[in-house]
Amino acid sequence: MRAHRCTCGAAEHRRVAVHRNRRRRAAGLAFRALRQLRVLGTGREGDPLMEAGLWHVLGVGCGNLPRMLRRSLRTIKKAIAAGTMRAAPLRRMEAESLLRLRDYRAAFEAFTKVARFASEEDLHVAPFRLRHDVLLLERLVAAGRISAAVGHPAAQQLHQALTSLGEECMQGQLWVARVTDLPIEVQESLRSALYDRLECVCPTPRQELLWEDKDPLNSEIDWDALEEDFLDNGLIVVDEFFCAEALQELWRYSMEGTCFRSLRPGYLGAFPWDGCVHPLLRCAAERLEERLPRILHRRPLARWWLFKYLDPGSSGIGVHADEAAVNFNIWLTPTSACRRGGGMEIYRSVPGQGTWTADFNSVRSDAGQEEVCRAAMKSGGVDYVAYRQNRACVFVSDRFHASEPFEFPDVENPRVNLTLLFGDRHEVQRTRRSSSSFFVRRSGASASPGAQASDLRIS
Ligand SMILES: [Fe+2]
Repeated sequence: MRAHRCTCGAAEHRRVAVHRNRRRRAAGLAFRALRQLRVLGTGREGDPLMEAGLWHVLGVGCGNLPRMLRRSLRTIKKAIAAGTMRAAPLRRMEAESLLRLRDYRAAFEAFTKVARFASEEDLHVAPFRLRHDVLLLERLVAAGRISAAVGHPAAQQLHQALTSLGEECMQGQLWVARVTDLPIEVQESLRSALYDRLECVCPTPRQELLWEDKDPLNSEIDWDALEEDFLDNGLIVVDEFFCAEALQELWRYSMEGTCFRSLRPGYLGAFPWDGCVHPLLRCAAERLEERLPRILHRRPLARWWLFKYLDPGSSGIGVHADEAAVNFNIWLTPTSACRRGGGMEIYRSVPGQGTWTADFNSVRSDAGQEEVCRAAMKSGGVDYVAYRQNRACVFVSDRFHASEPFEFPDVENPRVNLTLLFGDRHEVQRTRRSSSSFFVRRSGASASPGAQASDLRIS
């Protein structure tokens, strides 16, 4: 049964008044905090990054208030012009504020600059990343994006570093090492191998530029019906999510992209600050907002990433929830590459009120603890979605969820998923409290036309 939504004028008037008072209180708080920052800072202006961060946080806290977000941008612009700070953190803050203002094009450009300014101090290396990069170099040479004269010697240097690093990691029983902590000769090999610098030497391929203004979503999907399902259930499964051409391009990007630079245990992440800024992703976010206005209104694109799992057999990511309002998770690897599992379990539980992000957005390293946690979550109800290429699971983002253990044995076809997060969790919590929205009604998952009933199990 659909919950009643109050739309009378008095209620709306009250809502606007409450919102206005909140903004006034937040502005007062901002000015007091800034005064403190300037007292604590070294100069009259204090720390520009902290100041910009404060305006950003307050802007986000007030429902992405443009006035505060623009203050953040002005502070960053001044600091960049002064040239007194490292550019990467400033550009990242700039990109985050631009996203909240829904200026996605400018935000993507800012993230591109962040990726170029990455510091060598923060650079890490792991054997599985080196093996991945050897394959990547081969693909880039085959695609004509770098010459064999550059690619082959670089791959040789990586092999050399891999031999040394493999020994280092085995001895210390580490899976990852900071590059600057390695012996000088390994650092030299990595430098010669263009490690983590491929982004700067590979020109953007023509296929990528074609997606500046194209619609990547499947035009045959009945988005209105899906939106209605989501408003009822808080979870939908959409098959053939991208059009065939967009899926092909995303898969090429997953295999040839130079942005898989964030190391996680057994998999690589490509985040915006790593250079994961394909225009197709921006267009997908813009088109989703047009097609699902009741779900995504005032919930701008907040984060996105590609994850590539390099262990052929893996448990994937354990039980966690994401700090956002709506989560789009789309699988990109051909279905035929999946020998077993690879789907997702989406539990009915959400983190409690006031829980810190670090407490629900981290996974357990102990396999036994993880099993106990999954079993406990299942007892509260779970929606299970089977793996399939180009299938999207769309759900309220703070529902706990986990990967189904899987086997993707072909190194040329690793499991890759794309995640797009919209909006904020605190806003979802507020909506839940008002108990007048889709977020409180959960009667199980629905599948779009095309999804197989057997692919969904609801317990
Ligand atoms: Fe997640």
